[in-house]
Amino acid sequence: MEKYILAVDQGTTSSRAVLFDGRGRIRFSAQKEFPQHFPADGLVEHEPEDIWQSVVSVCQSVFDQLGEEVGLIETLGITNQRETTLLWDRQTGQAIGRAIVWQDRRTADYCEQLKQLGLEEWVSGKTGLLIDPYFSATKLKWLLDSEPGLRQRAERGELAFGTVDTFLIWRLTGGQVHRTDATNASRTMLFNIHTQQWDEELLELFQVPAALLPEVMDSADEFGVTDAHALGRAIPIQGVAGDQQAALFGQACFHKGMAKSTYGTGCFIMVNTGDQPLVSCSRLLTTVAYRLAGRPVYALEGSIFVAGAAVQWLRDGLQLIKGAGETESLAQRTPVDHGVYMVPAFTGLGAPYWDPSARGALFGLTRDTGIKEIVTAGLQSVCYQTKDLQKAMEQDGQRPVTLRVDGGMVVNNWLMQFLADVLGAVVERPAVIETTALGAACLAGLQAGMFRSLDDLESLWSSERRFEPEMGKAFRDRLYRGWLESVRRVQKESF
Ligand code: G3P
Repeated sequence: MEKYILAVDQGTTSSRAVLFDGRGRIRFSAQKEFPQHFPADGLVEHEPEDIWQSVVSVCQSVFDQLGEEVGLIETLGITNQRETTLLWDRQTGQAIGRAIVWQDRRTADYCEQLKQLGLEEWVSGKTGLLIDPYFSATKLKWLLDSEPGLRQRAERGELAFGTVDTFLIWRLTGGQVHRTDATNASRTMLFNIHTQQWDEELLELFQVPAALLPEVMDSADEFGVTDAHALGRAIPIQGVAGDQQAALFGQACFHKGMAKSTYGTGCFIMVNTGDQPLVSCSRLLTTVAYRLAGRPVYALEGSIFVAGAAVQWLRDGLQLIKGAGETESLAQRTPVDHGVYMVPAFTGLGAPYWDPSARGALFGLTRDTGIKEIVTAGLQSVCYQTKDLQKAMEQDGQRPVTLRVDGGMVVNNWLMQFLADVLGAVVERPAVIETTALGAACLAGLQAGMFRSLDDLESLWSSERRFEPEMGKAFRDRLYRGWLESVRRVQKESF
């Protein structure tokens, strides 16, 4: 009898459930978008119940598609938007306020104060992260400060903190289990990536009571069993990883120097650095790539906040296009050196600039600029940002020769070719582009014994298409110089 693995991928703008068979092939999937809340400039929130309901609904939809075979689901893997911060009441399970999303910049001033106090090196030495509102710690502090008495309740053990994985595990197990995995913990800025434990000095700095924190597990581990009331059936949760780490795992980047780039809401490049946490000299992050049998494998990460979200803005904000699918043909009809640059710094700039106060801009508009130039500039901004990260990695001695790509945007062939051209590197698209979900499934399948080893998993990966760079260096450099000049103009110092 075929056994199945269910992967839940709870992303920034949608939740999906993907059912894999024992060969890593997709059998069924379901996806549901949920509302985004932007209450003011720089604020991004999610309603925890929307996250939960969307997850239940996509799982239910997969169960319905599977019909009588639903009992053959052997294991469940969870992957999630990282850093997004939730606080809830352990007794009632109700959230305290909305989830503060990773893109949210409300703690920018506080982060600046910490930097002024000269704390960045110290924090970075423990966590591998830079002081930025992106990570959970300052968001959690903000939540605890948002209502009188909350910190005292937290100290009494009445409240629980979690990133989205933890919240889902809690809900899926009917409030029985409060756990996370090492990859998600490594994004909170409260976790010491060297000792692999919550760091008491950081908890003190951010005034976070230890009683709030989940237990940190390996990425393939026993996270608990789903409660019949939650999903209607009992399935062991055996794989958990933040979505970018799951994508690295799903791309089978198990060896030092292998890299992937995921194009979802944002874009995140990760390069596997093996059992050593490499310290970046170019403002990249050091993070846990995965932890198996107590042994962490590390990665260097470049995080860009807006990639697919730029196309979403072209569609929903400017209403220049009806769907993302239109962008490819519009770009094909536009010369690549049309002269318009879009810097989509809607929520500041991530790596390697780390400027939370930068905001987006369009440059080079002329009387004959039209929809196709603006749309093409949006796509190109995604590639130029990847180039920024490639250069940063190069400075750290980690230039990947081949980049494995995934995420919704990579179906766009024009985008992939321009990416290869701008990077001057081979871009490789795998047969399964749902690598985030696949990574979670692989972790769960490993723990469940459906896969024996990483070698086993490596054999599941195959390339669907390679994009070779075709653009001349001088032309590429000229285009990229225009981008760098545009970025310079949106940064804080330019105002
Ligand atoms: O760090 C944020 C990241 O995990 C969000 O990923 O796929 O929702 O853009 P995504």
